[in-house]
Amino acid sequence: MSKPLSGKHAVVTGGARGIGAAVSRELARLGATVSVMGRERARLEQFAGALAEEFKQPAAFFEVDVARAKSVEENFRACHKQNGSIDILVNNAGISESAPFLKTSTESWSRMLEVNLNGVFYCTRQVLAPMVERGFGRVVNIASTAGLRGYRYVAAYCASKHGVIGLTRALALELTGKGVTVNSICPGFTNTDLLKNSIANVAAKSGRSIEAVRAEFLKDSRSGRFVEPEEIAIKVGWLCLTEQAGINGQELVIEG
Ligand code: NAI
Repeated sequence: MSKPLSGKHAVVTGGARGIGAAVSRELARLGATVSVMGRERARLEQFAGALAEEFKQPAAFFEVDVARAKSVEENFRACHKQNGSIDILVNNAGISESAPFLKTSTESWSRMLEVNLNGVFYCTRQVLAPMVERGFGRVVNIASTAGLRGYRYVAAYCASKHGVIGLTRALALELTGKGVTVNSICPGFTNTDLLKNSIANVAAKSGRSIEAVRAEFLKDSRSGRFVEPEEIAIKVGWLCLTEQAGINGQELVIEG
C-alpha cells in the first residue's frame, strides 16, 4: 500500500476518541508518525500502543489540556523532542454544551471558547514557525457546520466554531506562498460520544425521549443521516497530501 505521508510527523489533538481517533488512524495508515494529544491518559496510552502495533510504526501520546497555554507549550516541546518537527497539526479537540442563551452560564461560555477556539490558537502557534521555515506544513481545524450557520441552544458552541473559521481564513492569507496551508473541515452531526451525550443532554433537559431528540437532530442534519468519523478522517488525510498545496483557507463541509 502506498504511504504518501511516510516521514511526516502528525499531531492530532483529542486524537484517541471519536473523530480524532479516526483521523489518527487514517494518518497512520498513510504512513505518518502520529502523536496523539488529549486529556485521558489511560485511553491515550492504550490507543497509541494499538496504533503503533497495527501500523508497525511509532506512535506517541501526550496528556494535554488544549485550553491551557502552558500545558500546550510544554507538551509540544516534549513532542517535538521525542518525534521531531511537526509537519501536520489536526486541531480536533473540542467540547459541546447546550443551553438556551439566557441559561448559558459565564463558565460554560468561557469553557467553550477556551477549548474550542483558544485551544486552536495555542496549538497552532506552537507549530507554525518551524513549518514556515521548512516550507511545508498542514494545519487542519475540525470546525463544524455550527461554524457556518446557527443552531438553537448552542450559542457558545456556534460562536467558538465561527471563531475557528475566522481564524482559519485570516491565517491562510498570512501563509500564502509559504508551503503551509490551513483549512477547516465542517462536519455535520457525526456518530461519536459527543453527539450521543448532546442528544442525552437535550432529552434530559427537555423531558423528551432519546428517540424523539435523535429524530430532531436527524431533521436538522439536512441529509437525514449522521456522518461517520471515517468520512471526516479520509478528507483530513487528503488535505495533508503534498499535492493539496493549492487548497488554503477553505471550509470543507461534510454532512452526508
Ligand atoms: P468526542 O467527545 O468523541 O472527542 C473529543 C476529544 O477531544 C476527546 O478525546 C476529548 O478528550 C478531547 N478534548 C476535549 N477537551 C479537551 C481539552 N481541553 N484538551 C485536550 N483534549 C480535549 O467528540 P467528537 O465528536 O469526536 O468531536 C471532535 C471534534 O469534532 C470537536 O472539535 C467537535 O466540536 C467537532 N465536531 C463534532 C461533531 C459531532 O457531531 N460529533 C460535529 C461537528 C464538529
